[in-house]
Amino acid sequence: MMAGPDKSNRREFLARSAALAAAATLPVRSFAQETMAARAIPGTDEYLPVVGLGAPDIFIDLPPEGKELPIAVLETMIGLGGRLLDTPSFFRPNVPYLGELIEEMGIRDQMFLTGKITVNGKEAGIRHLERLVANLNKQPMDLLMIHNMRTMDEHWPTLREWKDAGRTRYIGVSLTRNADYVEFDRFMRTERPDFIMTGYSIHHPLAAETTLPLAADLGIAVLIVEAFKTDDDGGIFSLVAGKPLPEWAPEYDIESWAQYSLKFILSHPAVTGVVTETRQVRHVIDNMRAGYGRLPDEAARQRMSDYLLSL
Ligand SMILES: NC(=O)c1ccc[n+]([C@@H]2O[C@H](COP(=O)([O-])OP(=O)(O)OC[C@H]3O[C@@H](n4cnc5c(N)ncnc54)[C@H](OP(=O)(O)O)[C@@H]3O)[C@@H](O)[C@H]2O)c1
Repeated sequence: MMAGPDKSNRREFLARSAALAAAATLPVRSFAQETMAARAIPGTDEYLPVVGLGAPDIFIDLPPEGKELPIAVLETMIGLGGRLLDTPSFFRPNVPYLGELIEEMGIRDQMFLTGKITVNGKEAGIRHLERLVANLNKQPMDLLMIHNMRTMDEHWPTLREWKDAGRTRYIGVSLTRNADYVEFDRFMRTERPDFIMTGYSIHHPLAAETTLPLAADLGIAVLIVEAFKTDDDGGIFSLVAGKPLPEWAPEYDIESWAQYSLKFILSHPAVTGVVTETRQVRHVIDNMRAGYGRLPDEAARQRMSDYLLSL
């Protein structure tokens, strides 16, 4: 009799089966370029694959169905060449489950892990960073940021000290939610963070007015979030539900409305990468595939914007 799979093999098998089943529901096509596009972090020779994952609830609390789903989500990202993982913010007392997950999967070193200070005040910020790093157990961390520019005067010196002490390789700041970029731009000019993270999409193009060109000029890496955000709470997916992609979408290897949004973002020359959040393996596949194939040029970007805004 053949030996039965042990518990961990079974788990891996289940996770892979979930990923494969999800992949089978997507149209099959092959692109000339067979690895995910990667962009250099400005001023370095380090390349980041352009599509990453944020932190769905299944990375924060172990879901009742068990760990198969979060494992499958991460394995799918890795299988498609993703490496960037924007780790959960601490908005509650318990540390996120993600730390345990990446330890168990043995993927810590291959991931580019970001973390953010989401509390106000210097001492609270330091305690927060210590807990965050203890949870992820990565030393040095890849990127630590200040979430939404909170108490910058207190947190920025802390991040600079952590970088000088070799506890993180890069430091930066995020700003989202209909931001006013005046202060953000000023901060970029005076402090030259390694990274910024901000919202940018066809419906929310404000960052492209001054902030993205400035980041390009100053050599600051840019991570984009809120890729699917619209003025409506349902985001782009409720807006385009039941609507076919324009017939010219295949010219840019766009297979879905998610890729339509993501390729618009990735074709901005200042953008280093984009982070999306999903708890569904088929959506991970969909989003990661935006990092493959052709990207729109300037004229096509305008056409994409006009078309989506007309719906
Ligand atoms: N200030 C900051 O630092 C800041 C602010 C916002 C976000 N973030 C980061 O960015 C990450 C992303 O957050 P976000 O607000 O930008 O969310 P998002 O990725 O724009 O949207 C997530 C939503 O889109 C759905 N979705 C994802 N891929 C899809 C696909 N291919 N097809 C259909 N639906 C899809 C997800 O549902 P399913 O689960 O069903 O797929 C989820 O409801 C966060 O996890 C966080 O890491 C940072």
